[in-house]
This record gives sequence, C-alpha cells and structure tokens, in this order.
Amino acid sequence: MMTPTELALRLYAVQGLALEAGRMALDYFGRQESLGVTMKGDQDWLTVADGAVEDFLRRKLALIFPTDTIIGEEGGGEASDAVWIIDPIDGTSNFARGDRNWCISIGFLLNRVPTIGIVFAPAFEELYVAQRGQGATMNGKPITVSGGDDIRRAYVELGWSTRIPAERYVDLVARGFAAGSSMKRAASGALGLCHVANGRTDAYAELHINAWDVAAGIVIAGEAGASISDFFAGEGIAKGNAILCCTPALARQLGEITGIAVTAR
Ligand code: IPD
Repeated sequence: MMTPTELALRLYAVQGLALEAGRMALDYFGRQESLGVTMKGDQDWLTVADGAVEDFLRRKLALIFPTDTIIGEEGGGEASDAVWIIDPIDGTSNFARGDRNWCISIGFLLNRVPTIGIVFAPAFEELYVAQRGQGATMNGKPITVSGGDDIRRAYVELGWSTRIPAERYVDLVARGFAAGSSMKRAASGALGLCHVANGRTDAYAELHINAWDVAAGIVIAGEAGASISDFFAGEGIAKGNAILCCTPALARQLGEITGIAVTAR
C-alpha cells in the first residue's frame, strides 16, 4: 500500500531527477569524443554516459526512497512491491552516433502494476510524465493517442534487436507493409511508446524488448489512451517480452499482424 502523498512525492521527485540526469547526458552528447563507445554485443551499444547516468539515478533514488528497489539496464537489480525500472539512455545507438532520438526512461511499478512513467528526451526538450489514473502530459500539456483507425493510413514503429532472428523481423515488416501501413524504426523503444502517446505514430510493436525500455512508456501511452499488451505478465520484468501498443481502433488488426494480443480498452 502507498498513500496518494507517497506516490505524488515519487512523481515530483523523479521528474527533477530525470531533468538532472538529462542535463548530464546532454553534456556527454555534446562531446561525442568523450563517449568511450564500446559494444556489449552485435548492434548493442554502450557509452560511458550510460553508466554515469545510471549511477547518478541509483544513488539519488536509494537516498530518497531507501525502501524501494531498483532495476537498471546496466546494473541489474531485484523486483519488489515498489520497484523503479530505469534505462539511463534508451536509444544508445542513436546517442553514440549523434542522433537526437534518445531519452532517459524511469518507470515505477507498485505491486507489479505500472504506476509512474517519466521519459525525458533532452535533445528535444520533451518531458513525458504520467501517473496511473491521472492522465499523461508532454511538457505539462495533456497528450492523447491519435484517432488512427485505418491500417492503410497507419504509421507504425517496429522495434528491432538481434535478440530475435532477423527472419521474424523481416516477415513482420513485410506483413505490415502488405496490410498498407507505413513502417519505421527510430531505435528508442521508450520514445516509440511516447510517440504513440502523443499521436506522432499510431502504434509501436516489438517481438522482444526489455522491461527498462518500456516500464515508463507503458504508463505514459496507457494514460494517453493506448491499448497495450500485457507486457509484465509472467517473467516480463526479468526477461522482457513482446509488446504491442496502439490506438484502440487498430488493436485487433495489428494484433493479427504481429501475433501480439493487446488488452482491450
Ligand atoms: C534498445 C532500444 C531499441 C529497441 C531495443 C532496445 P537501448 O535499447 O530501445 O529501440 O528496439 O529492443 O534494446 O540499447 O538503446 O537502451
């Protein structure tokens, strides 16, 4: 159990942390020669900023909310009834190459329910905030999903990683185009969900994505009116899952195309 005051404290404190972490990351981004780029695996990028930003967020969250647990992309961690799930830089491949489409993603799950989502894209000065049941905003203004209801006009982002065999991804791209949708990949799952939330796209789908990439965006897109698959079912927190997030009117058709069922809204 958590009181509304305890939740509000988390929402506001973490917005401040996200802004501070964003400034830190933006400083690294402005000095591309300082990024110390290495690879964790094929197409899996790492920079010194990922570690520095995650360390900063871990230290501050542990200080302010000592009983909450933390799971981070770089440092791992344990789930609990009150867990922060953070990606210090989502869209690291973009970040490492000077492309501005990256963000800080901080989600909070209360009793396994996605409850707070904060995504900050410093290079665009866009701060997305949502709390379960309270709506979603971008830079303080309410956001809602597009009215997209026609697959032949739909704009769909399809996430990709080497965790899934290339053939399955290629097949999915082909099915999306064949159904008439326009498909893209912009390489930040967290921002992909936020862009469904503010109507820049109609859907985001990925055959496997990790919890730190989507924990915040699920709250933001859900509060903006999106239909979303049950990502945290089973071992979603520890092992990741498939995700489909889209306008309610496209849910059935995109569910058939992707093979990912969404919860009705
Ligand atoms: C990746 C991005 C990408 C998604 C991958 C993620 P990272 O995270 O979110 O858009 O398709 O599944 O691994 O490595 O940039 O933090």
